[in-house]
Amino acid sequence: MKKIPLKGMLCLYPLPVVLVTSLRNGEPPNIATLAWTGEVCSNPEMIAISVQPVRHTFKIIRETGEFGINMPTAAMVRQVDICGVNTGKDANKFNMCGFTQFKSERISAPLIAECPVNLECLVKHTLMLGSHYIFIAQVLTKHITKDLAYEDGNPMLDKLNPLSFVSPNYYKLEPDSIGHFGFSKNP
Ligand SMILES: Cc1cc2nc3c(=O)[nH]c(=O)nc-3n(C[C@H](O)[C@H](O)[C@H](O)COP(=O)(O)O)c2cc1C
Repeated sequence: MKKIPLKGMLCLYPLPVVLVTSLRNGEPPNIATLAWTGEVCSNPEMIAISVQPVRHTFKIIRETGEFGINMPTAAMVRQVDICGVNTGKDANKFNMCGFTQFKSERISAPLIAECPVNLECLVKHTLMLGSHYIFIAQVLTKHITKDLAYEDGNPMLDKLNPLSFVSPNYYKLEPDSIGHFGFSKNP
């Protein structure tokens, strides 16, 4: 199999898109779109986000040590773009998007009611990588819209309609299970 040098992106995709909420005293709450994020530990539950230091969001998270992760649906692509091309330095993105604030239980930043999944996160580690810093944060509390969860609270994954970003385009994802964890050993 002949190989040639890969140019441009690293090609690890799809990347999930999240809306990160943050709050600093005396300012309206902020929202930023991030695609460099992921679950990085299961016990305790930890999540990582990669943020450039020029972002307004970066400065707020550095000061407060906390943020909310809100998972948008594909139908929210316009709001996602709005939150990714405007800065909270001079715009109120909750108002611009028509989003409803939903009070967090354990952090000060509000969450976005319209997003089906919301995580309250407390920063535990910060790493400077180069263009981006990584915040590795413990997930303190998780929320899901009632209609999108089974009675035991587990998510109906096929109903979440997540949004993905593969630069420079947004993609909807339609999960179509093709096997379960360990099926190669225990079909
Ligand atoms: C689809 C998309 C993904 C993005 N992903 C990131 C990211 O992972 N890290 C980052 O620092 N900025 C990312 N951005 C850019 C920020 O969202 C953008 O600079 C935003 O204006 C920051 O808002 P703030 O200044 O209010 O924090 C992304 C933008 C878009 C549209």
